[in-house]
Amino acid sequence: MTALDVLPKDLLKGKTAFVTGGGSGINLGIAKAFAATGANVAICGRTESKLEVAAAELRALGAKVSISVADVRDAAAVVAAVEKTQAELGTIDTMVCGAAGNFNAPAEIMSPNGFRTVIDIDLIGSFNAARAAFEQLKQTRGNLLFVSAGQAYTPIKFQAHAGAAKAGVENLMKNLALEWGAYGIRSNSIVPGPIADTEGLERLSQPAGKEAWLRSVPLGRFGAIEEVAAMAVVLSSPIAAYVTGSQVVVDGGFALPGWGAITQAAEDAMAAGATS
Ligand code: COA
Repeated sequence: MTALDVLPKDLLKGKTAFVTGGGSGINLGIAKAFAATGANVAICGRTESKLEVAAAELRALGAKVSISVADVRDAAAVVAAVEKTQAELGTIDTMVCGAAGNFNAPAEIMSPNGFRTVIDIDLIGSFNAARAAFEQLKQTRGNLLFVSAGQAYTPIKFQAHAGAAKAGVENLMKNLALEWGAYGIRSNSIVPGPIADTEGLERLSQPAGKEAWLRSVPLGRFGAIEEVAAMAVVLSSPIAAYVTGSQVVVDGGFALPGWGAITQAAEDAMAAGATS
């Protein structure tokens, strides 16, 4: 049984969710969770063939689907994608700002364009999507959901760009909760930890290796995409009707050993019989 199986299949019946970057990875998992709980789903991304494959999976779950080729860095393209969704599926209730880009790079050799590229995709792209959905969410009293990352609050090496971008995303999430709460729009973020079978884990777990990452998870295992996706559905459902401005961490406790090397040194010393 997955985290999704316990949610009512009609929890989001009659609702429509738009997921940026929904053609693959955690974002596709989120789109599938919306479909599996009764919602119709729109996805956008840069690669049409990926979107088409994803759309077939979403339709197999019973959803009506709209796809748009749009790079979130292009505000006009995102507006056009929202309009296409409205024409094909009707009103939009949830905007998931999920599209992201990342790579590991020491700040001292990262080019300004490399830094800007990740800020553009993650932060500016999130604003573009939220802004494009505003008038619609105002009508539906809908919600925004930002897909964040632990780097937003705990810096890790080689992630200067992504950490800065996601810290910005978290602040944007809270600011929009503050400003748009008056319209009944809720704004929250979800913070996935190390999730199995994702490009994020594949990319970021190098060069330390997956074993080192696993040792840092208090629950002792990597998460499942469905565990993040189920929380995205909950945050977009009436269960979370009074939840806004919240950062919901789905990471098995990964963020807790923030003192990394010190925690490990203490653990090794204890195991070797040290006392304090
Ligand atoms: N290390 C250092 N710099 C890198 C890099 C790496 N691994 N990958 C890209 N860059 C730099 C490029 O050199 C370029 O800077 P320059 O013009 O000064 O040389 C800049 O980043 C933009 O790269 P480019 O490949 O032109 O950008 P893009 O828009 O085609 O792709 C990325 C965006 C770089 C984020 C790409 O990795 C991507 O599309 N990722 C999407 C999927 C993803 O990252 N998923 C992971 C989610 S955790």
